[in-house]
Amino acid sequence: MNIGLLGFGVVGRGVYEITEGRTDMQVTKVLCLEDIQLPDAEAVKDIKAIVEDPSIHTVVEAMGGLHPAFEFVRAALQAGKHVVTSNKALVCAFYDELLPLVREKGVSFRCTAAVGGGIGWLSELERSRRVQTITQVGGIMNGTCNYILDNMTTQGLSYEEALRQAQALGYAEANPSTDVDGIDTWHKVILSSNIAFGVSLDPKTVPVAGIRNITAQDVEAFKAHRLVCKLISTGKRTEDGYSAYVQPTLVKQGQPEAAVPMNYNLITFLGDTSERMSFFGQGAGRYPTAYNVVQDLVDVLSGKGFYAPYGGKAAADNGETMRYYVRGGWDGEESENWGSGVITEPVSVDAMHSWLKDHPDGFIAAVAC
Ligand SMILES: NC(=O)c1ccc[n+]([C@@H]2O[C@H](COP(=O)([O-])OP(=O)(O)OC[C@H]3O[C@@H](n4cnc5c(N)ncnc54)[C@H](OP(=O)(O)O)[C@@H]3O)[C@@H](O)[C@H]2O)c1
Repeated sequence: MNIGLLGFGVVGRGVYEITEGRTDMQVTKVLCLEDIQLPDAEAVKDIKAIVEDPSIHTVVEAMGGLHPAFEFVRAALQAGKHVVTSNKALVCAFYDELLPLVREKGVSFRCTAAVGGGIGWLSELERSRRVQTITQVGGIMNGTCNYILDNMTTQGLSYEEALRQAQALGYAEANPSTDVDGIDTWHKVILSSNIAFGVSLDPKTVPVAGIRNITAQDVEAFKAHRLVCKLISTGKRTEDGYSAYVQPTLVKQGQPEAAVPMNYNLITFLGDTSERMSFFGQGAGRYPTAYNVVQDLVDVLSGKGFYAPYGGKAAADNGETMRYYVRGGWDGEESENWGSGVITEPVSVDAMHSWLKDHPDGFIAAVAC
């Protein structure tokens, strides 16, 4: 199988290295902005050199971003090529354009590395939904946030100190917004829900709250109540539809999520037969991520298409109520005062997130116990 590789950064170079020397697949062209010399592949600067090349069977997109990644992936699909991507933002934003095209062309479209990096999460969802109804997906899907929260909890660091440490180690970008504001997790839970439930969730109906405003005082208050704060995503089947959201969440010490260290992920589905199944591992990094891209390439060779049928559009309805820890001007009903913040009476997820929109300096964390 001849592969056209788009992008030669962290993931792209890893894919090139892992496939080098394999007999069943080889990268023959690499789309790259810089001038590079590779022993076994031709570096090209124009996407046409890949999508118009009949010898290229599969395109791997590892550039990131929405544009021109979307136009390049669409052109590859239109040319009847199979596509593997690690780009969650792309698949999430263009689900309704890409999936019908994949079906029309009868090609493979795989994106396992897009959620959980090295964890075979989406491919396991694909297997799971063959034999049971998946009722819930979610968990800790962003290693950068987990690293920051873990170091605030175990080392007593401030948010700023923990973020600086994550940046020094290469776990966080210079502009950390996509991670700390929950956007990366939001893409991942929407994509996971789409595959688990066979729908296309409207992203506008999935609220997200990040960890940017958490303080050392908040973490001390949580510890005093034997609670640990984690950024948790949730996608659920409800009686009459779906709910989905991303928010900091307080879990009891001793719960599996509370124990997730450093930059690891812990992602879980609930099924009506299997009950709880959790997956722990490296959610990012060159070789873990490239490993899953190459797993997808093997799946392309074996004729796998997409993970789930393309379902219709669905809106998430987050009327579910829960108690929250809130700091920053809460004037609703409260049941406890924790000094640094208050614990609210049960309030709906949608109502809490719309309160947060009006209080951009505030911080919320759902009380999961
Ligand atoms: N890194 C991870 O651990 C990880 C884990 C899971 C998923 N992902 C996903 O994988 C994707 C790639 O991430 P990455 O970390 O490998 O990013 P990266 O290191 O920034 O690599 C992207 C590469 O694509 C190149 N590129 C960008 N636009 C291009 C264009 N128009 N034509 C040709 N090349 C272009 C970039 O070149 P320049 O540097 O010259 O701009 C860069 O070499 C992203 O969607 C990311 O979300 C990454």
